Amino acid sequence: MLRTMALMCCALCFQVVPRLKPPDVRYVPTPQNVVERMLAIARVTSADIVYDLGSGDGRIPITAAKTYGARGVGIEIDPFYLRDAIDNARKAGVTDRVRFLNQDLFESDIREATVVTLFLLPQVNERLAPKLKRELRPGTRVVSHQYTMGADWPPEYAEDVGGLMVYRWTIE
Ligand SMILES: C[S@@+](CC[C@H](N)C(=O)[O-])C[C@H]1O[C@@H](n2cnc3c(N)ncnc32)[C@H](O)[C@@H]1O
Repeated sequence: MLRTMALMCCALCFQVVPRLKPPDVRYVPTPQNVVERMLAIARVTSADIVYDLGSGDGRIPITAAKTYGARGVGIEIDPFYLRDAIDNARKAGVTDRVRFLNQDLFESDIREATVVTLFLLPQVNERLAPKLKRELRPGTRVVSHQYTMGADWPPEYAEDVGGLMVYRWTIE
């Protein structure tokens, strides 16, 4: 009885959120200078809705909102990073333009995006490519830090940012 009460108390105090599934990629942040180049390479403006699939601490949507006045959405499977991102958006004063969702990026509805950013892994990008082509509207830019989409979908643009690669595709 006491043990059950203690467990319930812990769950309430620490807001235990069950993980949807193990992450496909572990958390490594994109350096801030690369974030800024990714958004410039995507030609983000205040009219854009920037989705970061696997958003970690939220730096990409937060920078898109702060620098360009864009709207941002972060999709993150790990509740720990989700909470961190929400806290960072609050500190940056962009909660009116940025939101973070605890979802699996393979299951999330990304149809409203006009820019999608990625820092995943080569095989994860390749698994994601059919969803991007199926759901995103023509003209939507996809920008990936470090990894391509494989030989079947070559990037239209590539840039070396101090030794880290950034790639861009535009949905046709
Ligand atoms: C390499 S980090 C990139 C973080 C951020 N986008 C950046 O560039 O700084 C990848 C992130 O994707 C998240 N992630 C991994 N698999 C995921 C999935 N299936 N759905 C949503 N997020 C996922 C991880 O928890 C991690 O925060």
